[in-house]
Amino acid sequence: MCGIVGYVGRRTAAPMLVDRLDDLSYRGYDSAGIAVANDGVVVVQKLPGKIENLRAALAGNEPPGTIGIGHTRWATHGPPTQVNAHPHADCTGRLFVVQNGIIENFPGLKRELLERGHEFRSQTDTEVVVHLLEEYYDGDLMAAVKKTAARLQGSFALAFLAADEGRLVAVRYHAPLIVGVGGGENVLASDITAVLQDTNKVYVLENGDVVSVEANRIDVDTFLPERAKKPGERQLTIVDWRAEDVSKNEYPHYMLKEIYEQPRAVERTLQGRIKDGDLVLREMDLTPEQIRRLDSFHVVACGTAYHAALFGKYLLERVLRVPVTADIASEFRYRNPILSAKSLVILISQSGETADTIASMEEAHARGAKTLAVVNVRGSTLAREADAVLYTRAGPEIAVASTKAFTAQLTALILLACYLADQRKVDWPYGRDELLKHLLELPANLERTLEVTAPTAKTWGRLIAAGPDCYFLGRNVDEPLAREAALKLKEISYVHAEAYPAGELKHGTIALISEGTPVVSFMTQESVWDKMISNIHEVRARGARTFAVVREGGYGLEDLVEDVITLPAVPELFTPVLAAVPAQLIAYEAATALERDVDQPRNLAKSVTVE
Ligand code: F6R
Repeated sequence: MCGIVGYVGRRTAAPMLVDRLDDLSYRGYDSAGIAVANDGVVVVQKLPGKIENLRAALAGNEPPGTIGIGHTRWATHGPPTQVNAHPHADCTGRLFVVQNGIIENFPGLKRELLERGHEFRSQTDTEVVVHLLEEYYDGDLMAAVKKTAARLQGSFALAFLAADEGRLVAVRYHAPLIVGVGGGENVLASDITAVLQDTNKVYVLENGDVVSVEANRIDVDTFLPERAKKPGERQLTIVDWRAEDVSKNEYPHYMLKEIYEQPRAVERTLQGRIKDGDLVLREMDLTPEQIRRLDSFHVVACGTAYHAALFGKYLLERVLRVPVTADIASEFRYRNPILSAKSLVILISQSGETADTIASMEEAHARGAKTLAVVNVRGSTLAREADAVLYTRAGPEIAVASTKAFTAQLTALILLACYLADQRKVDWPYGRDELLKHLLELPANLERTLEVTAPTAKTWGRLIAAGPDCYFLGRNVDEPLAREAALKLKEISYVHAEAYPAGELKHGTIALISEGTPVVSFMTQESVWDKMISNIHEVRARGARTFAVVREGGYGLEDLVEDVITLPAVPELFTPVLAAVPAQLIAYEAATALERDVDQPRNLAKSVTVE
């Protein structure tokens, strides 16, 4: 939610800031703005709408100056207007701030500041921060920011610019912030992707950190009294992502590029983790003894990652024969979950920064449970604060709609289930050699799935684009896939879609099926094949247009469905990794047929760092 950047160095700051905001635009795109300082004069340019608007306004008119801050907004408090766009200034017009997060106690602070004569221009929570800073500022930005941050409640990352100082100061508190370290220049950003053009060396800031950034110097302090004695050094992280990973190359959209990157992403998830018939999960910081003692498993996530969690539930129960719960993080954290020191809470997240997922981890820790993060972004909050981490290694995901991160999550869960089975001395399903062989073949089978799906998905996508509704059905591990297909379709094409466990539809929702309603069935599981056939008969009898995604060897669909996508024959538990491809491509084709903004759909942001 919102992206913030800062630059201080030798280059003209304005174009640097705009380019880096572009790299963060998946975090929000309601408005964008920059503030650049030069010889005590600060120029602010901010506009509603996407970063292109800001870029166009600055073209040929870039303010000079080699230090500045910038912001791309996902609106929370106040509509996406020019006055509500960041940066916000204090009453003197000498201090500026950009924020990612929410200041929960802003109404009280605003009242106090109004009484003290401050004039507010916007409806944002952020503006209180800069007026509060004004109260404390006496020429030392670092000192004033520490006092300001100590008065704020909520979750926030803030970057500040003072007209009269040649440094930036920033704060991190439960919202991500990193410093990219260059030679003679440094970059502040919400996310690593925004600094890859400049450097692969970053400091990942911790909660409570206040950082002063100059062209050749970085100082870390804290605003949290309990940590006041040990501010200072942060470890330099070397990032293994490359700048090319965040470019679109020849693809029209990041989403399509990322769909086609899936064979490579899954290959990276597996890389080095299968050795001589054994699984090697080095990052897993849980001892065999701890794993054996576990008596309950809980998988927690949001959105697409929650669909991976649902798959995780089926998978872990099937493999380990222990009860597993799957929860949406925003529910889990408030539902008084039953956890003990023998519970393992598995948190799945692409970004590792999703507020509700982080809060679920904190809830689990508070109840004495062990936590394991299945995460894509290295150094993210979940990765750093969970007891153990399993990186999915999908590479940077830029499109707002998650694709390759999802298939990498499913693959990581398969590895995890087998690893836990080994530690608990439980046999793997399908036999060891067979399962390892199929795991290693997953990338090639994904490649094949992309080939067979692409043309059919185009036809189905165009048909579904005509709307107004589309239904996705599945049973067993196909059910989370049906949910994922519906979510993908809704979020990027805005066509209304619903997903149902196929047997559940007749308990009410089948009333909505009428002549011509498209119904796509995921049916890759032998054990429920006949049941799926019956469910397709039911919707077809009510006029539905029916389509099916099956595994090689599916039979008896003649005269029952209009068209079929056939996935390569992999073990049943692996099919969701392949079935994700039609789920994604159907949505992509529907969205492009409707000329939607595929990579940046309306109302969304990629990393949801607020509740
Ligand atoms: C949908 C999508 C979201 C995310 C969700 C969780 O395509 O991307 O539903 O899956 O916001 O995000 P992470 O995985 O970063 O925790």
